[in-house]
Parts: sequence; structure tokens; C-alpha cells
Amino acid sequence: MTRAELVVVANRLPVDRDDDGGWRPSPGGLVAALEPVMRRADGAWVGWPGRADMEVEPFDFDGVRLVPVTLSAQDVAEYYEGFSNDTIWPLYHDVIAAPRYRREWWNSYVQVNKRFADAAVAVAAKNATVWVQDYQLQLVPQLIRERRPDLTIGYFHHIPFPAYGLFSQLPWRRQVLEGLLGADVIGFQRTADAGNFARAVRRQLRYETRASGIRVPRAEGSSRVALAKAFPISIDAASYVELAQREDIKARAREIREELGNPEKILLGVDRLDYTKGIRHRMKAFGELLSEDRLDVERATLVQVASPSRERVAAYVQLRDEIELMVGRVNGTYDTMEHTAIRYLHQAFPREEMVALYLAADVMLVTALRDGMNLVAKEYVACRTDNRGVLLLSEFTGAADELGTAIRVNPHDIEGLKDAIMRAVDMPSAEQSRRMRAMRKKVQEHDVQAWSRDFLDALAHAGKAAAS
Ligand code: G6P
Repeated sequence: MTRAELVVVANRLPVDRDDDGGWRPSPGGLVAALEPVMRRADGAWVGWPGRADMEVEPFDFDGVRLVPVTLSAQDVAEYYEGFSNDTIWPLYHDVIAAPRYRREWWNSYVQVNKRFADAAVAVAAKNATVWVQDYQLQLVPQLIRERRPDLTIGYFHHIPFPAYGLFSQLPWRRQVLEGLLGADVIGFQRTADAGNFARAVRRQLRYETRASGIRVPRAEGSSRVALAKAFPISIDAASYVELAQREDIKARAREIREELGNPEKILLGVDRLDYTKGIRHRMKAFGELLSEDRLDVERATLVQVASPSRERVAAYVQLRDEIELMVGRVNGTYDTMEHTAIRYLHQAFPREEMVALYLAADVMLVTALRDGMNLVAKEYVACRTDNRGVLLLSEFTGAADELGTAIRVNPHDIEGLKDAIMRAVDMPSAEQSRRMRAMRKKVQEHDVQAWSRDFLDALAHAGKAAAS
């Protein structure tokens, strides 16, 4: 077996199984960003194929070697749904939902992280680079380093890293910090996340932390340096621009407006159905605007795409019930025969349809209570080649650090949110254009290719420093 010079390790493989047993690329932008580098470097991608008990041999897909890690039904329940998505996810998103600390889930997380590390170690060439992705695999950097000190190891954290006052709740906080510190470069979305991490390391482990790096002691008394820094992720902007300029997709955008009964303004929300996204807050604000006659259904329709997610985790089941109750109430009160208040779609759509929706939307509502980055905000901006449309953006997203000319909102402040929606609905086109241009420039200059280049350059630099 030829070994890989670059190994990506992520909870999921970049492909999904289709109905006739083949594989198709999954929608995420990470794959697009890494594909060219992966090809050049004889790359391999270690990940879970997405279904329990699926045993698949490694295979090549579009020039990249995919190395499947099998998860049993129990692993899925304890490592994925349990520790990853019912402990770490809520804790790291500022305890919007209550994290559950269960020892069996932790044990499973440790065991599964070991299996991912084993698979990565087996496929990595001598002195190769390994890039670990996200919160499901926080122990993997250290586990790999223990076995393969020759490797250069990077880790990127796609979600927020919480303030120490919250992080310190975690019964296994030391192990998690030590796991992450196995990497040479630990990347975060925002400078604030990198700061929270460094503070946790100082408080918990008493290591020296500086802008130039964290000094991590080795067993034999010497030390190495790990860099913790922000590398805000982005999207494959060019591919969105291309779709947004396709005539069939533009026609579909016009058709969507027709199908909604030609409201004056279309408001749009696009999220995984997740309690971090502030979907209820935005619906509450919209419902109140209707009830106060500041809006009516002929003037404005809210389209809410909420794609199904983590449907066996209790907090998600409950959220779905709450949202669907709310949609029913608002629509029951304000719908007419021709117009609906909220068009709610609990479905996932292909990228073409999403772009048509972005083109149809006069106002994009991103009201997350906490979000590592929020790529939907960037997708909307990239698609608006006409420089029209208004982005409402929660200050609790990573994207808010970069998209300074969005209308910034605090989603907890319902009155403020209502005023911001009205401002967006009434915004003159010259102002829309001025704001949108500035955001488009940002997203185009800093796309996902730039992100992966920046991260891999920092990692190469760190690897050389360690070797000298
Ligand atoms: C977030 C996480 C990703 C995760 C995605 C979808 O964006 O940062 O790591 O893959 O949500 O969630 P899922 O649980 O379906 O993988």
C-alpha cells in the first residue's frame, strides 16, 4: 500500500452512499478546498461512512484514498450522538441546551478516537502531515503523536471554544486539552476561541502561553511549541458565483417568488435544525411583526429551510416539536388562501435549489445564538452578484468578525431583531449595494482555498521548526 503524504481525519468521509450502492460527494465545502492539495500529495481521508455497522474497504474516489472507520450502533449512540452531540456540542455552544456528562459516553469517545488515530497512523507516510478536523476527534492529535512523533499534526476546530467558566464543567477537561495539544497547530474560527483555549490551558495545565505558541512539556523534561490561532473558514466562493449566474437557476429563483404568491419581500432562513441557530427567535420576531401589523403576508413571507439533523438526540426532537408548533400557530393565524406567513421546509435540498433560494431572498436571516462560523451567511453573500439583498447577521457567529457591513443583531433582543428586520425590508437599494459589495469582496478574497492554504502553510512552518 502506498502511504499518504497528507492525511485528513474527520468524523465523516467526504462522500455519501447513494441509493444504488455507489458513492457521491457530500455537499460540504471542505472537500472542494482540499481536493487539489489532496491529489498532489497522494492524500488520504480517514472518516466514518455515515451509517452504523457499515464495513467498507479503503477505496479511491476522485483521486483521493478514502479510509472508512466502522462505527457500531453503540458507538453511534455513545460517541457520536452522546459525547460529541449531547456533551461537547451544547457545552461548547455556551450551554444553550444542557450538556449531559455520562461516563460511558466518555469511554466510548476515547475508544473511537483511538480507532481514528490507528487508521491515520497506518496510512501516513514517514514525515507526512496529518490534519484532524473538529470536536468529535479532540483526542486524536495526542494519540497520533504518541505513536508517530515523525508526523506534523494539525487540528482545526470548526465550532466555538467556550469561555473557561463553562469549559471547566467538563469532567474530562484535562484530557481534552492534552489531546488537542498533541497538534503542532490548533486552528480556531475566531481570535476569541483561540484566546479561550489558551486561557483554559493556562488555568488547567499551568503551561506558558504566548502569541508565538504554547510551551508543551515533554516527558523527558524538554518541551515543544504548539500554535493556537484563528484561521476563519470560508466557502468555495467561485462555485457559488458560477451557480448564481446560471440562467436556469435565475429562472428558478423567479419561479420560487411566483410560487410563493409574489410577496413583495422574501425573507429566508437556512439552517440545520439545531437549537444553536436561533430559529425560534427569528420566528417569534416575525410573528410579532405580523401581529403588530408592521408586516403582512402579502408584503412578506418567511421561507425557513431547516434540514434534518441528529434526529435521535432528545434536544433535537424537542426543538423540532417546538418549531413546528410555532409555525402552525403563526400560519394558522395569518395565512390567507393565497399567501403564507412561514413556508417551513424540514428537508435538505441540492445546492442548485439553495442558490435559487438565495437569489430569490430579499433578506437573509442568520440569527444563531452561537455559531463557530456560519457558512450560510457567506454563501448568501457570494451568490448576490447583483449586489442586492440584505444580510441580518447575529453577532454570536464567527462570520460577524468578517462581514462588518451586515446588519448586526443580538437574537436574544426580540425588539431589536424586529427593528432590524424592518430596516432590512425597507432598505434602499443603494445602501443594499454598498453593504453587499464590501461583504462580497471579503468572501471572494478569503475563500476556502485561501483558508486551507493559510492553515497548511502555518503547519508546514511549524513542522520545519520542530525538525530543526
Ligand atoms: C457542524 C460540525 C461538523 C458536522 C456538521 C453536521 O458543522 O462542525 O463537524 O459535520 O455540523 O453535523 P453532523 O452531526 O451531521 O456531522
